[in-house]
Amino acid sequence: MKRVAILGSTGSIGQQALQVIEKHRDKLSVLALSAGRNYSLLREQAFRFNPKILHIESHEHFLLLGKEFPEKEILWGGEGLSYIAGHPDVDILLVAIPSPIAIEPTITALKAGKRVALAAKEVLVCGGKLVKQAGGELIPVDSEHSAIFQLLRGEEGIKRIILTASGGPFLNTPLERFAEITPQEALQHPTWRMGKKITIDSATLFNKGLEIIEAMWLFDLSLSQIEVVIHPQSVIHSLVEFVDGALKAHLSLPDMRLPVQYALLYPQRFPSLIAPLDLTQFMLTFQPLDERRFPAVKLSKLAGEKGGTFPAVLCGADETAVELFLKGRIKFTDIVTLVEKALERHKGKEEPTLGDILQSYEWAKEEVLKETM
Ligand SMILES: NC(=O)c1ccc[n+]([C@@H]2O[C@H](COP(=O)([O-])OP(=O)(O)OC[C@H]3O[C@@H](n4cnc5c(N)ncnc54)[C@H](OP(=O)(O)O)[C@@H]3O)[C@@H](O)[C@H]2O)c1
Repeated sequence: MKRVAILGSTGSIGQQALQVIEKHRDKLSVLALSAGRNYSLLREQAFRFNPKILHIESHEHFLLLGKEFPEKEILWGGEGLSYIAGHPDVDILLVAIPSPIAIEPTITALKAGKRVALAAKEVLVCGGKLVKQAGGELIPVDSEHSAIFQLLRGEEGIKRIILTASGGPFLNTPLERFAEITPQEALQHPTWRMGKKITIDSATLFNKGLEIIEAMWLFDLSLSQIEVVIHPQSVIHSLVEFVDGALKAHLSLPDMRLPVQYALLYPQRFPSLIAPLDLTQFMLTFQPLDERRFPAVKLSKLAGEKGGTFPAVLCGADETAVELFLKGRIKFTDIVTLVEKALERHKGKEEPTLGDILQSYEWAKEEVLKETM
């Protein structure tokens, strides 16, 4: 029986992870749950899964939890996350908080010899070098990276990887309409059901840009070895090309419960919650990435090439720009422009500490706010 702690249990990944754990109750149990602001859902999850430890972002909610669950260990704030990550009873830490604040608990868990199932791409994008230096067992949850991780088992001689991208809801929208795109339209992803931030990132393709940097760190590749191809059906989750010319692909219906289960139960495979794929029902198509339509990919690669604190600026600026777009305060096309401006103004650090990374991330958020005031 493996004991799992979930950072971000009230989010899209966290909730799907709990479904996976429920299906495999004989192999997995919940030791700790952590949430940001959704007190009522965390409370519901606590009754249902009876974890020993509960964590929430705010002190006010922490006090409420203490009254409601006097028998449990209750924590709050950033320190609580690292306490959970290093707790001796945790076997697997699922990291699903979409922010570089999850870097520190990730490193703590890796150093303490726990498996980290990593969904939060911001952790490797912003703090890749520090996380890799920690060593330990890191299993990706992002569907493309889980696919590549599975494709690489027992292999060597990798030439390049090809990340697939659905192209989001605006793959065929006339470019002159982009400035008028509304949050409601951008939240309609054609193939995946996800949290709001990643859904908007999948419409601009910043999500793919972040995934390129994530893959670079995970699989020790250069940026030139990572390509993107548009595959609107989201059935092939990624491909690997080997030096002999062989190409391997990973296929399934788009459902995050599969990569979550793979990371939690690795290296074993068991029946999962996802529906089987009937290949005769799909026409699988591919097209090249149009960088004029999706400039976010090139911009992300640029930040990845510069390295140091630039990827943290990319994450921070994009996060705030997405928030402003969702509030109706900026246009869809402003997201990329604001990120580009923040990157241009940033004076980076080449070998940043965790403090430098978090500071640059916050700096970028402020820059975007200032620019839009
Ligand atoms: N969703 C997907 O299908 C999918 C697929 C591939 C990769 N990913 C990656 O997985 C990560 C999570 O995505 P998501 O879609 O699950 O995001 P989400 O739905 O927005 O959930 C984010 C989670 O993080 C929690 N959180 C935020 N700030 C926190 C803090 N300071 N302390 C503790 N918890 C905090 C939120 O809590 P509250 O809700 O309680 O505020 C929520 O539980 C992202 O990096 C994303 O790119 C997601």
